[in-house]
Amino acid sequence: MAFIALGVTGGIGAYKAVEIARGLQKQGHEVVAIMSRSARRFVRPLTFEAITQREVISDLWKPGANARIEHIDIASTIDMLLVAPATANTIGKFAHGMADDFLTSMYLATTAPVVLAPAMNSNMFAHPAVVENLRLLTERGVRIVEPGSGYLACGWIGKGRLAEPEDVVLYVQGMLSADARHTLAGKRVLVTAGPTYEDIDPVRYIGNRSSGRMGVAIAAEAARRGASVTLVSGPGAVPAPANVTSVAVRSAGDMHAAVMSRAADHDLVVMAAAVADYTLSAAAQKIAKGDGPLTLTLERTRDILADLGALPTRANGRPVLVGFAAETHDVVAHARAKLTRKKIDLIVANDVSRADAGFEVDTNAVTIISPTAAEDVPLQSKAAVAARILDSAERVMSERLAGEVRS
Ligand code: CTP
Repeated sequence: MAFIALGVTGGIGAYKAVEIARGLQKQGHEVVAIMSRSARRFVRPLTFEAITQREVISDLWKPGANARIEHIDIASTIDMLLVAPATANTIGKFAHGMADDFLTSMYLATTAPVVLAPAMNSNMFAHPAVVENLRLLTERGVRIVEPGSGYLACGWIGKGRLAEPEDVVLYVQGMLSADARHTLAGKRVLVTAGPTYEDIDPVRYIGNRSSGRMGVAIAAEAARRGASVTLVSGPGAVPAPANVTSVAVRSAGDMHAAVMSRAADHDLVVMAAAVADYTLSAAAQKIAKGDGPLTLTLERTRDILADLGALPTRANGRPVLVGFAAETHDVVAHARAKLTRKKIDLIVANDVSRADAGFEVDTNAVTIISPTAAEDVPLQSKAAVAARILDSAERVMSERLAGEVRS
């Protein structure tokens, strides 16, 4: 159980903070709510008081608050400061050390981990001032729960909506979990995620429906386990977690170059990206339509995994290799054939014919296949599946290490 200060600042998402407080309590944590002046315009302190069973703190100058310098007192006892929603204003104040209310003063006074869940209009979120402030804060170790995309309260559609309460709770839980294992400390892990786009001309491309969620979940879990993580993602993939090094690529060729140039420096490569199997030479100018059919000639792309699998095991320090196989039938047999053909260590077989697993959803059901075994991972969140995949990869890594020590 942890003692969590929940900072609530003034955005329409403030009502969702009530759900977050409840979710944290359900996990057994104690919550104290700290509301900014504008947050109190959106939600009444009484709501938080009733849920947290604690007085809501909102005033630096309340009579008595300075008898024991309350913001210092709480700052030194909390296990985490979570601010949800975090407005552009609060983010700016945190980034620049301004302390004009209880929450901002407490932020400066606490040494506990700090997590921000930003929420604002999508143009505000993309503004260089906010981007820079978030960068400054992440550099100082503040963790960010990325906002979601969709319909915003201001009527816009875009990125900026407060992350869903259960995702915020899950994130906090992940950070706090007493069993947070640093089993990948000192290891370097490279993960690919999302689709690749093969350009047809300056305005058109061939792509696929991969959202990058599975790869991003693996990158986040590897970072949580203490690895230094590089995430190579294709266009349109969900945002990278703040604590990984992110490399953006577009085509299968770009991804091949990005992965091959980095692989030897890594202990584990997980190819979760849906890499195009075919590409074409993009026309320099937009192709105008004619009356007849249009024929495009596609050529095979280089298979990144197969090229990694062909690297000599030891001399180049070949990383442990994990691939994915999207199958619609005879899932295990097809996937194992790929494992053998590409000379990789593990393959995660995905039955993409199921509606609740695979593309564009937050859940997945897979089978993790090695040359000698197949382990079914039933339907669960992609975060939980990511943990199972890394458990298996870690086993291969330690077996390999043991083999090297013996020989
Ligand atoms: N992959 C790769 N380089 C490519 C294509 C795919 O590294 N040019 C990787 C993917 O990231 C994934 C695995 O290989 O880990 C998928 O293997 P693939 O043989 O492409 O399987 P499918 O796309 O499922 O295709 P198919 O069944 O059509 O062979």
